[in-house]
Amino acid sequence: MIRRFGQCFALATERTTYCFRVMKTGHLEHLYYGRRITVESDADMEALTEKHAFMPGNTNAYDQENIDFSLEDIRLEMSSYGKGDIREPFIEVIHGDGSATSDFLFEKAEIGTGKEAYRTLPGSYDENNGTEHLCVTLRDRQYELRLELHYYVYADCDVITRSARLVNESRETVRLERLMSLQLDFDTPEYIFTTFTGAWAREMRKTDTRVISGRHVNASYTGTSSSRANPFVMLSKADTSEDAGDCYGFNLIYSGNHYEAVEVSGYGKTRFVSGINPQSFSYPVGPGEDFEAPEAVMGYSCAGYNGMSRGMHRFVREHIVRGEWKDKLRPVLLNSWEAAYFDINERRLLQLAEAGREVGIELFVMDDGWFGNRDDDTRSLGDWEVNRGKLPDGLEGLARKVRELGMEFGIWVEPEMVNVKSRLYGTHPDWALQIPGRPHSEGRNQRILDLTRREVQDYIIEEMSKVFSTEGISYVKWDMNRTFTDYYSGALPPERQGEVAHRYVMGLYHCMRELTLRFPHILFEGCSAGGNRFDLGILCYFPQIWASDDTDALCRAEIQTGYSYGYPMSVVGAHVSACPNHQTLRTTPLETRFNVACFGVCGYECDLCDMDEEERDAVKEQIALYKRWRDVLQRGDFYRGRTFARGEGGVPGNITEWTCVSADRGRAVGFLMQKLVQPNTQSGYYMAKGLDPARRYHFYNRRTEDCRACGDTLMYGGVRLKQAFAGEGYNAQARYSPDFASRLYFMQAEDA
Ligand code: DGJ
Repeated sequence: MIRRFGQCFALATERTTYCFRVMKTGHLEHLYYGRRITVESDADMEALTEKHAFMPGNTNAYDQENIDFSLEDIRLEMSSYGKGDIREPFIEVIHGDGSATSDFLFEKAEIGTGKEAYRTLPGSYDENNGTEHLCVTLRDRQYELRLELHYYVYADCDVITRSARLVNESRETVRLERLMSLQLDFDTPEYIFTTFTGAWAREMRKTDTRVISGRHVNASYTGTSSSRANPFVMLSKADTSEDAGDCYGFNLIYSGNHYEAVEVSGYGKTRFVSGINPQSFSYPVGPGEDFEAPEAVMGYSCAGYNGMSRGMHRFVREHIVRGEWKDKLRPVLLNSWEAAYFDINERRLLQLAEAGREVGIELFVMDDGWFGNRDDDTRSLGDWEVNRGKLPDGLEGLARKVRELGMEFGIWVEPEMVNVKSRLYGTHPDWALQIPGRPHSEGRNQRILDLTRREVQDYIIEEMSKVFSTEGISYVKWDMNRTFTDYYSGALPPERQGEVAHRYVMGLYHCMRELTLRFPHILFEGCSAGGNRFDLGILCYFPQIWASDDTDALCRAEIQTGYSYGYPMSVVGAHVSACPNHQTLRTTPLETRFNVACFGVCGYECDLCDMDEEERDAVKEQIALYKRWRDVLQRGDFYRGRTFARGEGGVPGNITEWTCVSADRGRAVGFLMQKLVQPNTQSGYYMAKGLDPARRYHFYNRRTEDCRACGDTLMYGGVRLKQAFAGEGYNAQARYSPDFASRLYFMQAEDA
């Protein structure tokens, strides 16, 4: 609900309220964002307004009429640089006269319903048109620049999205040096800034930083949203836990360089901003032109991290993921990469596919290596023609044969890249990003195509359309395997090179939009060397993303826990792979590899032909089990319990505990995993979450557990397990459950 009371605005979701007002100077004072409060008039907001009685210290008066008012110590909805606010600005514009100072003041506000689509970027959407929209228009006090602040309220997800648009109504070109999407000011310096950082194969490490002074930045410079720093971040308090306390979650619907900063001012106020990374960004906006900032997402819960995550999950599932695959159950796939790498041919692939069929695989995916002379990663990217030496009957032939085995067929592509050793590079060397005269920095032996160029976008769309229209292709893995260097487009003049990174992302979105419209039946999976581009922008086109090349069950438990703070598990690609694991050389039980993977969109990525019969039977059983519970695991509500990062008492722990509950709360799956054997200890309990407290459930697993209890007992008392991790037989050979042992538990309401 969005309401205006005079100069005050109140936005409400089911459990949150967001308020701001127009001050007498015309600036927007942020008043409140948190748990739902009663706001029936502007008088109800009076208590929230700043009451400055005197000008502190050596701050600057805003102007002659307001000599007791400074912009330095006030919470603002947006701030610009140069009139007293010395914190992180929301916007920075270089005007035609060279000045970098702006001062945007309130002009008007409009309230409406429905979600408008962006012109250049993807955004959230609302099929039912129930979303309310507030557009506040500000105007610079001196220059003919209009700034629109947009707010969209997704009431049942407890999510509000924000974005901004700058319109140049003057007669001269201005340079936009920064336009954030979201700014949120708090009164106090008491926040923990949680970021999800890492690198290739160790994505989404949760890192908590207490910001009580200065500035802390989470940003990407890789050209992608990045495995180094995911755009999803949180602010919480020292006493926030998984299920209690204040938690704010923020994300950006953007796949390029992003920037999230928390700054505590000299007066103890905390500012958070999120948007396109201003580094190397400089965007001219000519007379009559506009610039759209990406949409930012914010959610709040007083029910801890899980409370906030639930809202985010629902929002992503309902208002980001779209298309034919939005609500469809995802097939169990077998991917050829870790089984064969580049060493593929039709015979080998069909052997693998046949082994897959035996155990219940539904979709067979041929990964890298099928085109041009692609025998290793040094060549052929850009030449999307099938290698007839490897696949004599072409893609059609292989697709047909796989489908005859009773499975769907899928394929891998990396459309944004080119190897120097390729026909494409030979013909169009200028289509790669490269700085004239400077030696190029290769990444995985490849270069990045210049997606700022229309002809390159067209090439990608047409080449990919040829591949995707092959009869029998129903899945595509869209990969992107390097970070950006050599930012320079030969198609843009020198003074416009600051546009390249953002124009690349817009070009990419154009290709993705066009191809997903042309091939709506295809299930697309995003990938960027694992999770180097795992973000809401990609999810607006592709309903799932390969989360990490690290398939080691121990690492994956942490990586998937990391993703779960901001993303539903239904978008997280997760595979069971061989041991010793190809990334860590660690050996974990096959059961645990499956137990971890089944909480994401589950698949297999190993040489099934190489497994002994016992292992293959185990895989067959796993897949059958997954199919029985897949609706709960893919569509249910996900809850974290203890995690390796935060165990009992809030200190690092030895157990990871997850629960996934069906929407009607009739069925649930629980998961416990131990890291290392702790001799002479017992980790003998499991605490369910999200059940209906009043319903009775049958709690059981394949081995030992079998009891009946009400949801409240399972959630608040927990289950003392018959088979604890340590101290008893896991199998005939071991006295203790081995390192990395795990279990699944099933809960079925008796009335369901
Ligand atoms: C990186 C991906 O993350 C892998 O899964 C695989 O598809 C390779 N690229 C193929 O080159």
